[in-house]
Amino acid sequence: MKYSRAVQGSPAEVEFRGVSASRGGRVVVEALDLAIASGEVLAMVGRSGAGKSTILKLVNRLLVPDAGSISVSGRLTTEWDLFELRRHIGYVLQDVGLFPHLSIADNVAVVPRLLGWSERRVQDRVRELLELTGLGAGTFADRRPHELSGGQRQRVGVARALAANPPILLMDEPFGALDPITRSEMHDELKRIQAEIRKTILIVTHDMGEAFAMATRIGVLADGRLAALDTPGRIARSEDPRVRGLLAPLLEASEALRSAAG
Ligand SMILES: Nc1ncnc2c1ncn2[C@@H]1O[C@H](COP(=O)(O)OP(=O)(O)O)[C@@H](O)[C@H]1O
Ligand SMILES: [Mg+2]
Repeated sequence: MKYSRAVQGSPAEVEFRGVSASRGGRVVVEALDLAIASGEVLAMVGRSGAGKSTILKLVNRLLVPDAGSISVSGRLTTEWDLFELRRHIGYVLQDVGLFPHLSIADNVAVVPRLLGWSERRVQDRVRELLELTGLGAGTFADRRPHELSGGQRQRVGVARALAANPPILLMDEPFGALDPITRSEMHDELKRIQAEIRKTILIVTHDMGEAFAMATRIGVLADGRLAALDTPGRIARSEDPRVRGLLAPLLEASEALRSAAG
């Protein structure tokens, strides 16, 4: 299967082989073959209900497939100790899910503390991550989540997911709730952060623009099937109607801009 090869020369960090999965008795992901290379930013794009969140949940074993297998860093997810697997994978969600009563520093520190790190090491790591994500430890460490903007909270979500330094990051529509300008800033920020940390990132989104802004490869998911998997350039030129459908909003926006500019 042509999709099952990772980028040449790099070992696959996450690999789906013939994976089918159902939700509520209905098949929502079918015969998925996909290999994500170490250090890659792969964006999986599909409309609402296409099966995007399901794919992420299969990676960290929040869901188990009906058929096929998933391996993470060369080991089947079923062979991983569940706690070790989850620690190996950072997870960023759209609604962030910060603990409202905890400070920003304590939110970021949740996993390191669960792992029993010394308080000194926890504090050092929190400071490092708040700096990495552009928050500034001095300003934000002691604030509560409600004292931050949406974009700042999303940065905390990224910092928290990176706390135990996992090699893999799953991102589920992470910037979908942000206004377009903040979202665009976050795309640049994520690229800057990724250039420093070089994780393997699987991001799912309904927004093709988001995929173009961040991904090294783009997958297109339609009705639970991988309709395309390619470089951004080739996705942009694709004539597959399932790909064109997701490109349409981008083309419309740029056409409207061109026509307004005269
Ligand atoms: N807990 C659930 N029970 C039943 N059906 C579900 C559940 N979660 C998701 N689904 C269905 O599975 C399909 C894929 O869902 P999901 O992976 O969340 O899609 P996406 O993230 O692309 O919007 C959708 O049709 C959705 O309604
Ligand atoms: Mg979803």
